[in-house]
Amino acid sequence: MVIIDNARILAETLDALRGKGAEIGFVPTMGALHAGHASLVERSVKENAATVVSVFVNPTQFNDQTDLATYPRTLEADAQLLESLGADVMFAPGVEEMYPEPDTRTFSYPPITSVMEGPRRPGHFNGVCQIVSKLFRMVRPDRAYFGEKDFQQIAVVRAMTADLALPVEICACPIVREPDGLAMSSRNARLTPEERSLAANISRVLFYSRDYARSHSVSETQATVLRAIDALEGLQAEYFEIVDDSTLQPVAGWDDAPGIVGCLTAYCGSRHVRLIDNIRYKG
Ligand code: PAF
Repeated sequence: MVIIDNARILAETLDALRGKGAEIGFVPTMGALHAGHASLVERSVKENAATVVSVFVNPTQFNDQTDLATYPRTLEADAQLLESLGADVMFAPGVEEMYPEPDTRTFSYPPITSVMEGPRRPGHFNGVCQIVSKLFRMVRPDRAYFGEKDFQQIAVVRAMTADLALPVEICACPIVREPDGLAMSSRNARLTPEERSLAANISRVLFYSRDYARSHSVSETQATVLRAIDALEGLQAEYFEIVDDSTLQPVAGWDDAPGIVGCLTAYCGSRHVRLIDNIRYKG
């Protein structure tokens, strides 16, 4: 595996690979890699002749500067993991390389960006689109892999890719969970051991709600999940929306869309670590 921090060398390296006919798979990350990221890299390695993984903590997608400053950075461990998984290129640029000038482009894809994380994290999806579009232009991948934990992010990236007519296939990969059900996330490292076991209740509630939903309405299911999360001391739900999986608009009934997903955001512990998870009810 080669480690590259420069866009020109990246382009030369990838041109050489493409010249040999290699299809390129791409996994964009912000580092602090865990088994969830590993599953994306493994799939890319299986489906493409060459795999590029970017590791870049993108400042423009953080609407909270403390969150940006405390985001875990583990470059050496990330490189070791990527090497062991068979990635070909780790692209780890600095901020100057990605943003030589401030990025003034704006991206908005209503109704997808108008719900859930959109209004609650102003500028977040704009920053995601800025960096992912730059990375897509630099890497020019045939396929790009994203985890379904960030369910709304995948919908936004699909909308942006269509808008910019970028020739890349967006591949959504299932959530990878810890043995107790907690969805893998770089933010889990911020939890104390007590908070960590408390956080496992998020997925327990979501899994329970799938059975509950079989004999209850959408609004009853939504209210039950919110009540169950808030009843646990140390957990506080920010929202739980049951939505059409393609438009991300709330549904009123289980027959309203061919695919339905419940998306939850909750705060855990005294430092309010923000955790997200989702569960598929249909489709
Ligand atoms: O999901 C992430 O880690 C980030 O939002 C991404 C896609 C790497 C863009 O910075």
